[in-house]
Amino acid sequence: MTADTAAKKVFIKTFGCQMNVYDSERMTEALAGDGYCETTDLEDADLVVLNTCHIREKAVEKVYSDLGRIRDIRDRRRRDGKDTLVTVAGCVAQAEGAEISRRSPVVDLVVGPQSYHRLPELLKQSRDTGARIVETTFPEEEKFEHLTQRRQVRSATAFLTIQEGCDKFCTFCVVPYTRGMEYSRSVTDVEKEARNLVESGVRELTLLGQNVNAYHGVTETGAETTIAGLIRRLARIDGLERVRYMTSHPRNMSGDLIAAHAEEPKLMPYLHLPVQSGSNRILAAMNRKHTAEEYLRIIEKVRAARPDIALSTDMIVGFPGETDRDFEETLDLVKAVGFAQSYSFKYSPRPGTPAANMEDQVPDGVASDRLARLQYLLTNQQERFNAQTVGQTIPVLFERPGRSDGILVGRSPYLQLVQAEADTALLGKILPVAIRGHGPGSLSGVIAA
Ligand code: SAH
Ligand code: SF4
Ligand code: F3S
Repeated sequence: MTADTAAKKVFIKTFGCQMNVYDSERMTEALAGDGYCETTDLEDADLVVLNTCHIREKAVEKVYSDLGRIRDIRDRRRRDGKDTLVTVAGCVAQAEGAEISRRSPVVDLVVGPQSYHRLPELLKQSRDTGARIVETTFPEEEKFEHLTQRRQVRSATAFLTIQEGCDKFCTFCVVPYTRGMEYSRSVTDVEKEARNLVESGVRELTLLGQNVNAYHGVTETGAETTIAGLIRRLARIDGLERVRYMTSHPRNMSGDLIAAHAEEPKLMPYLHLPVQSGSNRILAAMNRKHTAEEYLRIIEKVRAARPDIALSTDMIVGFPGETDRDFEETLDLVKAVGFAQSYSFKYSPRPGTPAANMEDQVPDGVASDRLARLQYLLTNQQERFNAQTVGQTIPVLFERPGRSDGILVGRSPYLQLVQAEADTALLGKILPVAIRGHGPGSLSGVIAA
């Protein structure tokens, strides 16, 4: 650490999915080694990092509007004699590269999701030369090997990326282009990071990947293992109480993973398994490579293994060519499953993806109406799921203080947010909570004696 960087502050904002949350944490750690500490005040930041998402047009627009605001702040700071370095990282960086600093000249550095371990070195280069830098190659070297082992622990729950990229090429999706081909970290590498986190107080791990159940990392003997094998190994770590994983693809929902839900007590009864649509015609046009019936059969097997499992999905409405009839089939599938949790979106055409050039793009008004109808149904299902927990006593892992004094917020095994009166000494503990009530997004209860 040199004297001139000792007091530097970094402001980092994360857009998009949990994998970006993980990446932001790792970037913060890499920058800490370079003398940066985190600030939540943009005006105070010597370095601004936007870790961006390219999944829908809206996500990208937010980045550019933030950059406008950052330019004003940078100009103000400059008048006070302070420098501000601006970095765009993540999936917009990967997808748009040099175009970003052309559109937004305030940007000094553009760095893709596979290169952020080089951030300190790239920042130095930018400072030394004053040149704009764009680093969006998919390097041969393995990012994870270059990141520091020590992880800063923020709470009793942590994300752990085990798999990156995607080879599935759904016709609407940018991920295969922004994150590259599918890649699994080795079991040893994952296990080492998991142990590290648990030793620092983590009780719950969420294993992350764009296609997490396609995981096929190698063990120390060189043999490949599945995500089920990995979960069973991690479950042996003393002090680790809960394991989750997301996001899964129906095509990779293998028998051994379903069996793990029946057999492994540390594996939480929650499954995020996006189906996107209930129409086989649309599923085929999306290149999802499964039918609605196949999806329902998987759900049946999962429920046979773990009857109380909470199911979650992502849905897209207004995909090109989607008719009223297709949409009705989507509603039918949702009714048949009964989701505890969901994320639903209006289709957003993305540059470079096959669906963007398909005929029969659905008018925005039609898509909005469908989204409203679908969300009404899904919200009701979520409420019903939450309502059924009222009166039960369930184990809650307390993660963070709530908005008001004396309240802690935690999660049930089903990933529901639970609020209860509790002393901060109980943070990181799993306690039985008698659920008394439920609101739109959370449950409330009292710690049972
Ligand atoms: N790998 C995961 C999800 C990745 S993106 C999977 O395969 O399910 C997260 C969600 O964003 C997707 O499940 C999809 O519902 C949504 N999404 C992706 N591209 C989109 C687009 N072009 N328009 C609208 N929603 C999109
Ligand atoms: Fe995107 Fe499909 Fe891959 Fe998921 S499986 S990341 S939706 S291409
Ligand atoms: Fe967005 Fe990239 Fe995640 S596009 S959803 S941040 S993988």
